[in-house]
Amino acid sequence: MSTVIEEGIKQPEKFTYNHGLTKEQVERALNQAIQKVEENLEHFKDTFPDAASVNNVYQPVKNDHEWTQGFWTGMIWLAYETTGDEKFREVAEIQVETFKKRIDERLGLDHHDLGFLYTLSCVAAYKLTGNKEEKDIAIKAADTLLERFSEKGEFIQAWGNLNDPNNYRLIIDCYLNLPLLFWASEVTGDGRYYEAAYKHAKTAMHVVVRDDASTFHTYYFDRETGEPTKGVTAQGYSDDSCWSRGQAWGVYGFPLSYMYTKDERFMEMYHKVTQYFLNRLPEDYIPYWDLIFTEGDQYRDSSAASIAICGLLEADKWLPADHPLKKIYRNAALHMLKSLIDNYTTIDHPESNGLLLHAVYSIPHNGGVDECNIWGDYYYMEALVRVLKDWELYW
Ligand code: GLY
Repeated sequence: MSTVIEEGIKQPEKFTYNHGLTKEQVERALNQAIQKVEENLEHFKDTFPDAASVNNVYQPVKNDHEWTQGFWTGMIWLAYETTGDEKFREVAEIQVETFKKRIDERLGLDHHDLGFLYTLSCVAAYKLTGNKEEKDIAIKAADTLLERFSEKGEFIQAWGNLNDPNNYRLIIDCYLNLPLLFWASEVTGDGRYYEAAYKHAKTAMHVVVRDDASTFHTYYFDRETGEPTKGVTAQGYSDDSCWSRGQAWGVYGFPLSYMYTKDERFMEMYHKVTQYFLNRLPEDYIPYWDLIFTEGDQYRDSSAASIAICGLLEADKWLPADHPLKKIYRNAALHMLKSLIDNYTTIDHPESNGLLLHAVYSIPHNGGVDECNIWGDYYYMEALVRVLKDWELYW
């Protein structure tokens, strides 16, 4: 029995008044996003935008390190899916080749982010084109991710060398890597991927969510016993605070784990972490980089907002029509999206090759602070697509 509280929505009026977002606005925003992708297509064909921009301009990087290259390819697939224009497909397929090389040569893959990398590039490719080679690359990535599953603690180790005790931990972000494993079981009929993903999802839910429904970013385990030991942050304000993007990974991650397992406990946890997140949004609905801040001049993380919108819209599909919070959650998503469209895009910054301003990569590491970041851009596009149609997930 979970001891995590469900605090409810503290200011329901904030989410019930009309958001004012129109279909035309969303269509315009998506067209603008697609136009930006098109403008960048030639520049980022054999290379990728870096994780975060510098002065709102992404520099090119190769596909041999970092966890973020899949987001750009995912944006190109979204542009292809929306427009049907073959030029997007051609570039996405060139990019997929680099993902093949990366997994074949295991370039910069000493971490669990195979899901972020391969779901939005190769799984998306397979779902949109039916190309079997692209499916096989993604399955190979799932095999590689499976190597990081620790039977003893029943979780996937996040970062670095598996034998280093300092690396015997999971992080909440991993919820978005699990769909690669769930999908691999579906397409291969091999239950090992599903089992590992399901076990990890339960372990992580047990350790990262605190009793007040805030979350730890990372959680350590004892190598000898497999028992959980302590929660610490890597990118939040402090070990005890609640890193906004971590909470957003939960808001999206729990419904995705529910989608694949139909285990109701994931939806129960979704409600709790989502209410905690929504209750700490400032006036314009875009969170500060850590939920310990609810007002003042701290940096915002627009990427946490775009991730959370996708989570709210995904969960909406699974909530019955008469659920008392269904309307509030949906309105919350649309208020957040309207705020991003109105005040956070690069539309008045033609020098920028990104989509969303005012994101934060990591304040403790002083990287990508108040910049565009490529996952914020990706989830923003996904959110726009989700509002306009019943989207078949790449996840
Ligand atoms: N998954 C790493 C991050 O959210 O920064």
